[in-house]
Amino acid sequence: MNIIVVKDYSEMSRKAAHLFVGQILQKPNSVLGLATGSTPVGLYKELIKFYKEGMIDFENVIAFNLDEYLNLDPTHEQSYARFMEENLFQFINMKEKNHHIPSGTALEFEAECDRYEELIHNAGGIDLQILGIGRNGHIGFNEPDIKFEAITHIVQLDEQTINDNARFFNNIEEVPKTAISMGIKTIMQSRGIILLASGKEKADAVAGMVSGKITPELPASVLQLHPNVTIIVDEAAASKINL
Ligand code: GLP
Repeated sequence: MNIIVVKDYSEMSRKAAHLFVGQILQKPNSVLGLATGSTPVGLYKELIKFYKEGMIDFENVIAFNLDEYLNLDPTHEQSYARFMEENLFQFINMKEKNHHIPSGTALEFEAECDRYEELIHNAGGIDLQILGIGRNGHIGFNEPDIKFEAITHIVQLDEQTINDNARFFNNIEEVPKTAISMGIKTIMQSRGIILLASGKEKADAVAGMVSGKITPELPASVLQLHPNVTIIVDEAAASKINL
């Protein structure tokens, strides 16, 4: 694991953007794995800046998002489809047919999982995947006790995740309790991974991920086994790392 400790959220976002820009310059038809949550918003802002300055082109880039809530219409203001539109896609020239998010409103959820996994496979796999981390160590929506062998699948959200995500909804009853998520195996098959974390509330999860036992109880700990992972954390999120 390559661990980079930075001062704050802005520096984390800038560093991550540089790695993405490098990836796109190196391979203009890169397949990117994208994430939602508050963590990657700064990264997306930086990428939009690079795009507007003419330094990168998304014309041939393909993207796959990690996850989506079940039974939330893509137009719902908290759907991840809408999040991606508002925070990135509307500002760049990635072709609509090239950005993918699992459908949370598919008629057959199991078939949707298979379809999504196959799409990633047919695109040649993911070159660079961005990840955030939940306070319980989840990545995507792979909650504690997930099987490391899981591919894209339907998940029940953990109580802590539901509570954490309640801040985006009017009340806790509105927070979806289920989602569709790339599995740990899907994520581990990415050729490169960048995980971002900021803030002291992530410090325990980050410490467990980089220096704790590799265990499904802390899903992100599996990243210790990946040959090409960069963790970019601010000082607060890095404060409990014990190397
Ligand atoms: C959700 C997403 C994750 C994200 C996590 C942390 O559960 N499915 O991909 O990493 O939230 O969110 P935040 O970045 O807002 O702390």
